[in-house]
Amino acid sequence: MSTEPLVFEARALSRVFGQGRQAKAAVDGVSFAIQKGQIASIVGESGCGKTVLARLLLRLDTPTSGELSFEGRPIDAARDPREHFRRVQAVFQDPFSAFNQFFTIRAQLASAFRLFPVRPSRAEMDERIDRALLAVNIEPREIDGKYPFELSGGQMQRMLLARVFIIEPRVLIADEPTSMVDASSRASILDYLMKLKRELDMTIVFVTHDIGLAYYASDSLLIMHQGQIVEQGPPERVTKQPQASATRQLIEDIPDVNRDWLARERKPA
Ligand SMILES: Nc1ncnc2c1ncn2[C@@H]1O[C@H](COP(=O)(O)OP(=O)(O)O)[C@@H](O)[C@H]1O
Ligand SMILES: [Mg+2]
Repeated sequence: MSTEPLVFEARALSRVFGQGRQAKAAVDGVSFAIQKGQIASIVGESGCGKTVLARLLLRLDTPTSGELSFEGRPIDAARDPREHFRRVQAVFQDPFSAFNQFFTIRAQLASAFRLFPVRPSRAEMDERIDRALLAVNIEPREIDGKYPFELSGGQMQRMLLARVFIIEPRVLIADEPTSMVDASSRASILDYLMKLKRELDMTIVFVTHDIGLAYYASDSLLIMHQGQIVEQGPPERVTKQPQASATRQLIEDIPDVNRDWLARERKPA
């Protein structure tokens, strides 16, 4: 067992929507631990509760019951929510929804510094933005004066990741970041996630319905089905010897164009 400290720890965590006979547990008594410096993937079919769980980790929503701790303290402990937002950042499926259409991309990357306790000088902000853009293979001059609508979905997803490189959170929650981009952007987004882990020692929670992608990129898999975690473990074990029928179903459901991810040599951690 690794002795790395735990970033998240959940015990019997639930989020129920509705009341009485209408009540439905979108997250239904899940228990898990995510270690520091890992890429942990939450994998499950559409509607199984992945995003509801991700929002609990982000502190954008509150559990109905159970316990959730972040870095050893209850997530709702008397700590400034902004502190949590700086430590735990998100990248979502639709990168355009995260940017305002009326401001240039550079101005919006600069707004990331609002989360900092002390805002750096103009020159330092520009330098950090340039460095973050280069980290996601964008030539800084290329986006100067540009607005979100002038970029492709894949480029915008890289802008969101550039924002992550600027803020350097301890944890990144990436909820289906590859589902709206083409195959080549998909591969590079996974590579950036692995780079964030490697270079910034970031912990990453990668949420996806595609167990092939999760297998390729992660250190551990949490398989979700109807609000519950039905299986968890190292990617090799979970994909080669699945124990839960939901896991076998996910392997069958990998779209043919992505099937080769499961056969790929996994990148060394
Ligand atoms: N705000 C909400 N109110 C009621 N039901 C919700 C709400 N958010 C999510 N749900 C339900 O919770 C279930 C899980 O949704 P979600 O976490 O978005 O699934 P996914 O795994 O596709 O991300 C779905 O049945 C969804 O309809
Ligand atoms: Mg979702």
